[in-house]
Amino acid sequence: MKKLMAANWKMHKSQNETLEFLKDVATIASALPDDREMAIFPPFTALHLFSNLPAQCFVGGQNCHSEKEGAFTGEISAMMLKDAGCTHVLAGHSERRALFHENDDFIGEKTSAALAAGLHVVFCIGETLEEREAGNLATVLERQLKALPQSVKGISAMLSVAYEPVWAIGTGKVAGPAEIMEAHAFIRKNLTATYGTEGNQIRILYGGSVKPDNANEILGLANVNGVLVGGASLQSKSFSQIVLA
Ligand code: PGA
Repeated sequence: MKKLMAANWKMHKSQNETLEFLKDVATIASALPDDREMAIFPPFTALHLFSNLPAQCFVGGQNCHSEKEGAFTGEISAMMLKDAGCTHVLAGHSERRALFHENDDFIGEKTSAALAAGLHVVFCIGETLEEREAGNLATVLERQLKALPQSVKGISAMLSVAYEPVWAIGTGKVAGPAEIMEAHAFIRKNLTATYGTEGNQIRILYGGSVKPDNANEILGLANVNGVLVGGASLQSKSFSQIVLA
């Protein structure tokens, strides 16, 4: 299984800034080992600049709606992302859950819609500090994972799960190796319970304050099949150091 090295740019970068970053993408891609892939999730306004990506490099939307089209002002559908050249999409990022009140049902529906549109979904889950401290890690992850479609043919090629503890996102506080391995092992068990042996082939990414100086250690942990990087993916230099770590 190839490791997926993903960049979530959130609400950052103008078109000029994107073009600056893209100048370095070919160089990063040429150094990318065969067992790694790279995906960038820029803002919607920059998607069209990603039309000539090198092999093993992909572009995706940071969000989509569950419906194909309709009266949903401000939203964008999975089909529209596909139409704009995307192969990937994020679903259920904690900022969508917390700031935009997306619940498990809606995240499940948009995941199904995106899979049906042929997009690879990076399905994000993770607990808050309060939930962890209350001993509810397993309950929260289980509840969030339940929103995944229960049986999809070829799911392992179309789905990655990103474990992003909310307390580690943008805080500089990375989860320790034991915490990452515990959560990833739990997720793996859940995925094989749902999808059988195919659940072993679904990538589980870690996200939350991944930086050039911790990426290598994190990528070496059991059941870590890639990383989802926010802040450190905004500069091509630090993202390249992570991708090649
Ligand atoms: P961070 O963000 O790397 O800045 O912590 C990760 C994410 O939100 O996906």
